[in-house]
Amino acid sequence: MHPNSTYAKLSQPLESSGCLRVSVIGAGYLGTTHAIGMALLGHDVVAMDIEKEKIAQLSSCELPFFEPGLGELLRKCMELGRIRFTTSYDDAAEADIHFVCVGTPQLPGSLNADLRWVETAFIELARRVCGPAIIVGKSTVPTGTARRMAEIVRRHSADRRVGVAWNPEFLREGCAIEDTLRPNRLIFGVESPHAEKLLRAVYQPIIERGCPVVVTDYATAELAKVSANAFLAMKISFINAMAQICEATGAAVLPLTETLGYDDRIGRRFLGPGLGFGGGCLPKDLRALCACAADQGLDDVASLFRQVDAINLSRRHRALALGRELLGGTYAGKRVCVLGAAFKPNTDDIRDSPALAVGVAAYREEAYVVIHDPVAMNSAKRVHPELEYAETIVEASRDSDLIMLLTEWTEFIDMDPALLSTAVRSRNIFDGRNALTAERWHSAGWNYRA
Ligand code: UDX
Repeated sequence: MHPNSTYAKLSQPLESSGCLRVSVIGAGYLGTTHAIGMALLGHDVVAMDIEKEKIAQLSSCELPFFEPGLGELLRKCMELGRIRFTTSYDDAAEADIHFVCVGTPQLPGSLNADLRWVETAFIELARRVCGPAIIVGKSTVPTGTARRMAEIVRRHSADRRVGVAWNPEFLREGCAIEDTLRPNRLIFGVESPHAEKLLRAVYQPIIERGCPVVVTDYATAELAKVSANAFLAMKISFINAMAQICEATGAAVLPLTETLGYDDRIGRRFLGPGLGFGGGCLPKDLRALCACAADQGLDDVASLFRQVDAINLSRRHRALALGRELLGGTYAGKRVCVLGAAFKPNTDDIRDSPALAVGVAAYREEAYVVIHDPVAMNSAKRVHPELEYAETIVEASRDSDLIMLLTEWTEFIDMDPALLSTAVRSRNIFDGRNALTAERWHSAGWNYRA
């Protein structure tokens, strides 16, 4: 690791003055990153998961997912003896503060989140934890969950001193550790001064560096995460709606985005037009908020979020249609090179990936689809073994009738049109992320559409 790299700087322990015993329940993406973050803050961490294989992997310093720089930090924490992994709730129960980081996926056939793992974690901890410890929910949940978990703890715990708090996370895949150690805000949903005190103690080095803390009630803390993600989703769908207006009127969306971005009330970020959002958070949180609004009888509010979702999904159809146009009207029998399987660059996460959705749709229209992604191919192969995969861009584009750039990895942005001209059958490229320089491709003789 370069000594001046962000990760090298982050890996220098921040050393809180008081080391706490921390447990993290659920060693998925969020839990593992949070556990490593806590260890880097100087705490004594035990991370627990029911999946034996995952715990075995993590215990031998291997990450079960891709996240830049995180593997090195895990190794460092292991060497310092600050982190260990277990499959036993009994091992986790000793800690002063427990973070519940289990998954809350969207329930099949419903807009609501599946809360069974959150409930199990609270029940199992409540049965074992003693003393003035607190159980802190970090998983993204619908409002009312924290209150229900507090009741569960009261019902299942013999010790009245065990408290509950909600402390949502805002970490982005690809910069997860940076977001964990340098968050732009900390939200504490608490009902007792003791819970606030413990949370302030565990995050002390971050707070001392000036990170703002919002201390609030359970419901507001629960809404903090979903509302941030729904807002980001709205921004993306807004610019994609403008992209459609631009297409219809002959205006250009990228310069339009620039004009909007100079207004600092609007800001430039999350105004990238293209294939739209995906991943494990934005779509799920948007739909959960929609379900929440509908449950409260707020139909206008629900329809706002429903529309944001619909505009986002319509981008995938538009991408497919533009690809079809480039192919002269049909995918059937054509060879299509799909660049990108991950829902965004710098991750191997393919959950609700717009890129993969378009690739699969082209396959269903009888194209011969070959996919390349720098890190997400194994995840994609597990879910879509019917598609072809290639190890390099050139191999994937060999004899293709159309290249579709659907996830904006740097290596795709840097592709050389002249080199690819020698591999493909027809020089057709669809840029689903507005990531390429159109002029460069036009001047190399390509039909370029974005
Ligand atoms: C998101 C939130 O940013 C984070 O705070 C939260 O904790 C978890 O959910 P993440 O899912 O990692 O993080 O992805 P993010 O970087 O927010 O991107 C979401 C999606 O929006 C991606 O599919 C991305 O490609 C898309 N996007 C982003 C656009 O389509 N246009 C943009 O301008 C920006």
